[in-house]
Amino acid sequence: MLTIALSKGRILDDTLPLLAEAGIVPTENPEKSRKLIIPTTQEDVQLLIVRATDVPTYVEHGAADIGVAGKDVLLEYGGQLYEPLDLQIAKCKLMTAGKVGAPEPKGRLRVATKFVNVAKRYYAEQGRQVEVIKLYGSMELAPLVGLADKIIDVVDTGNTLRANGLEAQELIATISSRLIVNKASMKMQHSRIQALIDTLRSAVESRHPS
Ligand code: ATP
Ligand code: PRP
Repeated sequence: MLTIALSKGRILDDTLPLLAEAGIVPTENPEKSRKLIIPTTQEDVQLLIVRATDVPTYVEHGAADIGVAGKDVLLEYGGQLYEPLDLQIAKCKLMTAGKVGAPEPKGRLRVATKFVNVAKRYYAEQGRQVEVIKLYGSMELAPLVGLADKIIDVVDTGNTLRANGLEAQELIATISSRLIVNKASMKMQHSRIQALIDTLRSAVESRHPS
């Protein structure tokens, strides 16, 4: 059995057409089904439906052989995973943001984010003293109510920041989703996984000719 971990929403929406080119099609709609293990038209391939931030955990521990995760999630996770292919989906930017026109605070900066490890690394590289405040969502609220001076979050159109009187400031990383592979699976099922990677690479290249 080859097990592929995916998260509902944009990653599932953008990955299913790529998997379809490899002949892998779920036998029921994962967005609608309450099932968390979804069979596919290939008897020996199944999908696991997990939270976006949990995909690397399932793959690193071998509960899934393969997964699709945002580079933001991978930067935060760390871990021992192969990352053989940029799927060029769910593109966005990981950025710092703060209130429009707010002066740079003196002294210790308070930064609210769900990307705690990324935040600590980023400011440590700059030699800047920060207090990192872990949040699980709605980060944009934090500077508005004085919980933090800045946030670190993903930005696409900038609409969410604008709607809350915030502005994007520094770029930390450009983000897209990556195919990730468990290290042992890559050895044990090498020809099968390599064939899938090759098919997905062709599908990605035909969508984004260089
Ligand atoms: P969780 O459900 O675990 O909280 P999430 O809500 O971040 O995760 P999604 O919103 O489905 O999950 O995002 C999945 C990935 O898509 C993110 O890790 C990021 O790489 C990318 N992403 C997030 N927001 C956007 C956006 N507005 N535009 C484009 N890509 C995005
Ligand atoms: C993501 C992210 C930002 C927003 C940025 O949220 O957390 O809030 O997108 O996109 P924008 O720059 O185009 O406004 P999402 O829409 O995925 O909702 P979520 O909080 O459920 O992940």
